[in-house]
Amino acid sequence: MRTRTKAVIVIGIIVLLGAVYLGVAIARHGFSAREKPSRLEEFLARHARKIATPADARELKNPFPVTAQSMAAARAHWADHCASCHALDGGGNAVRNADTLRHLLGGSA
Ligand code: HEC
Repeated sequence: MRTRTKAVIVIGIIVLLGAVYLGVAIARHGFSAREKPSRLEEFLARHARKIATPADARELKNPFPVTAQSMAAARAHWADHCASCHALDGGGNAVRNADTLRHLLGGSA
């Protein structure tokens, strides 16, 4: 067998094993934003975000200085406008959470 054919077969097996791994992982755990992502998912997500972000946007810096006052204002803004769905700690365990999010995402309530 030619070396190139062997390489194609090995790569094909690796891709197939990866697909089986992903299939089993998704079948067992499904998709959830609440679970801590696996290291593989974290790795892939970080790289996907990096690829999707324009180079000049990656260089941007927060124009607002981080001070005790600005952080207190940010926490107050979060509590007023975001926590009803995302919860105070961002964990998603909020009053409006499950039904609201299902509705917003277009699922049946
Ligand atoms: C009415 C409910 C609701 C409120 C209020 C709300 N969000 Fe969201 N937020 C959502 C939903 C629904 C999603 C999409 C979740 C998904 O697609 O998995 C989302 C997604 C996000 C995401 C993307 C998260 C990710 O992992 O991709 C960010 C960031 C976010 N919200 C920030 C905020 C901030 C900041 C505020 C307040 C200024 C806020 N949200 C207020 C419902 C809400």
